[in-house]
Amino acid sequence: MTSRIIGTGHCVPDTVITNDALSKVVDTSDEWIRSRTGIGCRRVVKEETTSYMAYMAAKKALISANIEAEDIDFIIVATSTPDTIFPNTATCVQKLLNNKKAVCFDLNAACSGFVYALNVAHSHIVAGLAKKVLVIGSESMSKVIDWKDRGTCVLFGDGAGATVVVEDNSGFLHTVVGSDGSKGDAIICDGHSSNSFYGHKEKEHPFTQMNGQDVFTFAVKKVPEIITQVLQEKNINAEDIHWYILHQANERIINSVAKRLKVPMEKFPMNLEHYGNTSAASIPILLDEMNQKGMLKKGQKIIISGFGAGLTWGATLLTW
Ligand code: COA
Repeated sequence: MTSRIIGTGHCVPDTVITNDALSKVVDTSDEWIRSRTGIGCRRVVKEETTSYMAYMAAKKALISANIEAEDIDFIIVATSTPDTIFPNTATCVQKLLNNKKAVCFDLNAACSGFVYALNVAHSHIVAGLAKKVLVIGSESMSKVIDWKDRGTCVLFGDGAGATVVVEDNSGFLHTVVGSDGSKGDAIICDGHSSNSFYGHKEKEHPFTQMNGQDVFTFAVKKVPEIITQVLQEKNINAEDIHWYILHQANERIINSVAKRLKVPMEKFPMNLEHYGNTSAASIPILLDEMNQKGMLKKGQKIIISGFGAGLTWGATLLTW
């Protein structure tokens, strides 16, 4: 017994911020952003919220899976940008779906969140704790970005992607996940919270801070390493994988991973030009776009891989 993704959906906010529009706010240019990252524009929430986007993506995934919302028994939302600390995003999605029986919780593993959440869903199914699961990645990164910091604000975007995962005889094959807390300073968001017991002092740096080069170096080394580990442990050759669906952070990171694995770039689909880095949402958004275009065919072998703050990472081998 294993688990399988049988439905996908996504939702992005209506507002589009182009690189040219950003260059009117901070000292940057379309040329700089495109050449360093591959990003052309990003979506940014206005009226939308993390839970609303998660709900919309989930609704579409349920339709694509042909499953009723009331039959879902577990909802897990990967997010670092929930609307509220509690209730968690998953219970908000449950409420909007009018579902009564699911166990609901959020998981924060930053940009690795979707890979971690899929792993948790799979483990629940294999352990007999759940049968029909919504695995969602949803982020409002625009809320935790300093829009005056050109080093970070050009990189991120908002959105949500969802999958329906059920028990099956094939699908989820193998995974490698990991974390290294000692490198947590490479990308950090302190948040706004302060302890009112000691007064209401604002945090000095409430927004995302990042050492871009450290994160870049980590990603281009760690991602090929874990993908190779997954393939070796299942005795599968890199060329037997149809698609490598990586977290959409930066085109140059993806290029470098492809080169290190000696796999042609055509096997590394990308949509970061349109959305930027949507953190835990990037992999399920891309999965849904590929699914809608008919690019995912039954029996294809797929690697998904995420990496990000923590530091955290994960790579999973699936059969579609
Ligand atoms: N527009 C124009 N110039 C910018 C800029 C921007 N948006 N952001 C930084 N710069 C400037 C810097 O100030 C620096 O100027 P200086 O040489 O005068 O000091 C110069 O560009 C080079 O900066 P540097 O940080 O060395 O650029 P880089 O080539 O490393 O690219 C990143 C920066 C962020 C694009 C790159 O490091 C990266 O992609 N890192 C990974 C980040 C990531 O993916 N994080 C999320 C992981 S989940």
